[in-house]
Amino acid sequence: MEILRVENLTKTYGAGANAVNAVDAVSFTVEQGEFVAIVGASGSGKSTLLHLIGGVDRPTSGKIFIDGNEINHMNNDKLAIFRRRQIGIVYQFYNLIPILTVEENITLPCDLDGSSVDKSRLDEILMSFGLKERRNNLPNQLSGGQQQRTAIARALIYRPAILLADEPTGNLDSKASEDIMSMLKLTNKNYGQTIVMITHDLEMANQADRVITISDGKIVGEA
Ligand SMILES: Nc1ncnc2c1ncn2[C@@H]1O[C@H](COP(=O)(O)OP(=O)(O)O)[C@@H](O)[C@H]1O
Ligand SMILES: [Mg+2]
Repeated sequence: MEILRVENLTKTYGAGANAVNAVDAVSFTVEQGEFVAIVGASGSGKSTLLHLIGGVDRPTSGKIFIDGNEINHMNNDKLAIFRRRQIGIVYQFYNLIPILTVEENITLPCDLDGSSVDKSRLDEILMSFGLKERRNNLPNQLSGGQQQRTAIARALIYRPAILLADEPTGNLDSKASEDIMSMLKLTNKNYGQTIVMITHDLEMANQADRVITISDGKIVGEA
C-alpha cells in the first residue's frame, strides 16, 4: 500500500534572476512499511523537501498525498491537526521543550490535541526507547542520544502514517548514532513504521531499504 506520493513537487525561493528551485519537479512514492533514505550534498534541497512532505512548508507547485490525503488542499488549521496525528518529524537538534520532562515532551502532541494519553502506548514507547527510568528527567539531564530518543518517541506517540527524520544522527557521536539507527530500524521492522530519513552520511543511508539521491533539488538516483 502506498503511504506517500509526491508529484512534480517544486519549491522556488526568491524571484526573477534570484529565483532558486530548492526542490525541482520531484516525484516519488513510498510504500507502507518502507525505510527510505534521501541523500545529497549540503544545499541539495533535502530539508526543503522534508519540510514540504511534513506540511511544515507549502510547495510552489506539485502535490503531496499522505495515506491518500492531499495535504496541499488542507487549510492551516486542518493541516496542523493532520500533521500532529499522521506525520512524525525528528530534527538534528531534537527540538525538545526544556521545561518539560521526558514524559511531558513525549505526550505533548496529545496535550496540544486535547486528547487523553494512551497509557499503554506511552509505557510501550518509554520501554522500547529505554526511557522508562528517565521519564521524570528534564532534557538537560539527558545525553544527546537520550534526547533524540525522546524526540523520536514524541514523533511516534500517535502511530503516525509516516516518520520523517532530518539528519537524526547529525549531532551525535558514532556510538549514539548507531544506537539511534538501530532504534529506527527496530521501529521499522517490529512496528512496520514507514520512515523517510535524510542524511548526508552514506553509511547511515545504506542501512535503509532504498536510497534516493538528490542534487540541486532533483532526484538523480535511486537504489
Ligand atoms: N528560506 C529560504 N530562503 C531562501 N533560500 C532557501 C531557504 N531555505 C533553503 N534555501 C536554499 O535552498 C537550497 C536547498 O536548501 P536545503 O533544503 O536546506 O538543503 P539541504 O538540507 O540539502 O542542505 C539551498 O540553496 C538553500 O540556500
Ligand atoms: Mg538540511
